[in-house]
Amino acid sequence: MKLGVNIDHIATLRQARYVGDIDAHNAEPDVLGAAAICERAGAEGITVHLRADRRHIQDADVFRLRERITTKLNLEMGNTQEILEIALRVKPEDVCLVPENRREVTTEGGLDVAGQLEALRPTVSRLRAAGVRVSMFIEPSFEQITASHALRVEMIELHTGAFANSQGDAQLAELARLRDAAVFAHSLGLQVNAGHGINYTNIALIRELPHIVELNIGHSIVARALTAGLGQAVRDILAAMQRP
Ligand code: PXP
Repeated sequence: MKLGVNIDHIATLRQARYVGDIDAHNAEPDVLGAAAICERAGAEGITVHLRADRRHIQDADVFRLRERITTKLNLEMGNTQEILEIALRVKPEDVCLVPENRREVTTEGGLDVAGQLEALRPTVSRLRAAGVRVSMFIEPSFEQITASHALRVEMIELHTGAFANSQGDAQLAELARLRDAAVFAHSLGLQVNAGHGINYTNIALIRELPHIVELNIGHSIVARALTAGLGQAVRDILAAMQRP
């Protein structure tokens, strides 16, 4: 399995202070620097979601990442004309189409590909014509996989949120749904990826799934980075406070 690190929440932290001026001389944390750290640590891709409300990643971030990253860029986006035009200029290696709703805290549920076939078809064709590989972020359902296959996308990303949010037998039932979906999608020739809510604990179950090529993980890695690095950050500022 390959790892794509979703760095949206590096940008969330920057926006909390520098929403008006991401290029301020003291703006931090540095989104490009964070991507480079992920790559040096072994990530095989960088994932960002350019939302219509621009709550974290900004247009300039996406263009700069395109220039600077050495692995591959996976751009998550809702199916809107505005973001599609940006994606066609950026030309990431991959685009993952996701549902988007302004009031949500994070991406909730998978994209209803089966219910939006005609709206998605031109977007998929334009991206593929530009040489971008397209993925659909969907629930582990046969109906959504069949619809994605009908649109001739290269990949699907199975939404692991219901699995991540459940426990015990309910979680094992969700894992079985993911397994069945992965087997079915693979049999149709689709590349199978997975993401959402994967953390350092539930990955032990996720890694047993068949046919998964890529995991996209964000929140849990950024949260771990904060707690793992907090002690050092305090030691560093204490050292800087000492008079020579
Ligand atoms: N994959 C997709 C399509 C997503 O929308 C997200 C969240 O933005 C992720 C993966 C990463 O989820 P998490 O931040 O919970 O690891």
